[in-house]
Amino acid sequence: MAPSVLIIGAGGAVGLPLVAEFQKQKSQFSRIAILSDPARAHKFAAVQKSGIEVVQGSFLDFKCYQGFDVVISLAGNALMRLQPAMIEAAVAGGVRHFYPSEFGTDINQDGVWNFRYFRDKVVTRDHLVATAKAHPGFRYTLMLVGAFSEWVCGEFSGVDVEKHTVRCYGYPDAQASVTSLDDVVRYTVESILLPFPEGQSCREIRVRGDHFTFQQIIAVLEEVQGVKYDVQYLDPKEAAQKQEEARKRGDEAEEMLWAGKPVGPSGKVQVPLPLDNDKFGFKSETLKQTLTRLYGKK
Ligand SMILES: NC(=O)c1ccc[n+]([C@@H]2O[C@H](COP(=O)([O-])OP(=O)(O)OC[C@H]3O[C@@H](n4cnc5c(N)ncnc54)[C@H](OP(=O)(O)O)[C@@H]3O)[C@@H](O)[C@H]2O)c1
Repeated sequence: MAPSVLIIGAGGAVGLPLVAEFQKQKSQFSRIAILSDPARAHKFAAVQKSGIEVVQGSFLDFKCYQGFDVVISLAGNALMRLQPAMIEAAVAGGVRHFYPSEFGTDINQDGVWNFRYFRDKVVTRDHLVATAKAHPGFRYTLMLVGAFSEWVCGEFSGVDVEKHTVRCYGYPDAQASVTSLDDVVRYTVESILLPFPEGQSCREIRVRGDHFTFQQIIAVLEEVQGVKYDVQYLDPKEAAQKQEEARKRGDEAEEMLWAGKPVGPSGKVQVPLPLDNDKFGFKSETLKQTLTRLYGKK
């Protein structure tokens, strides 16, 4: 039977294109719904007209999850610590397949698992393992896609595409896997329709559009824009120090900002082989194609 899907965090950076992809593939699903706080539900009025439902309520209330097979969480950093509570409520509501808010690096890699920026993703994964043990039949999917191609050349990584400068905390030879956001959401929607491996509770979907060093990424950007960048690599220890100062001040947003700056340029966003790209019926956009679409001469 066609699955029913509930999306949490649908109005965010990933949520908007994900909902647009679900609209394209609506016929493959019995129900597609957005879970929204009643105070913010007005954001989804236009989407509702296209046949996407809006469930108004709290992601902590099991009743909101009743009648759905699959839940996709797109919790942003501020919300991520509450994912274990969402999982509890989802299971109590009868959900048997959960997509936690991953959509990035393979956090299982050495030096990444203990990195502050990923702390709440780690806690969520631990909770999913325990939930699967306690509830036979419960399954979860981790979408591992690397950095979004649109974001790797952006402010977050210290890249200014207008001034043609890079001031990043990292190293020229740091490796990064990248996938365009359009492809990330397409892989996510189509993954729901792939058979889940027998006898497993955890499934990883490992995909990427390209894999380069940070220096090569900047070279692609230079080629596409036809300009030379002024590039300076800064010591990630400086970012770590600012992160720690923010933690001591109790400024969590600033702490996460500094924790995030070295993520891409210091090699922490990678999806190592093997990959699952060939399980899908389309080919990923390359980094050059994405950057040409965004910044190429018209
Ligand atoms: N690999 C990459 O390069 C990359 C880049 C960006 C994001 N990501 C990942 O993608 C996932 C989603 O990130 P995102 O950027 O889409 O997140 P986001 O835009 O920051 O937030 C997503 C949604 O979370 C809800 N939300 C946020 N703060 C809230 C609060 N305080 N109270 C209640 N709801 C709140 C909102 O839901 P409503 O819309 O329902 O109001 C919001 O739209 C994360 O796992 C993130 O790490 C990866």
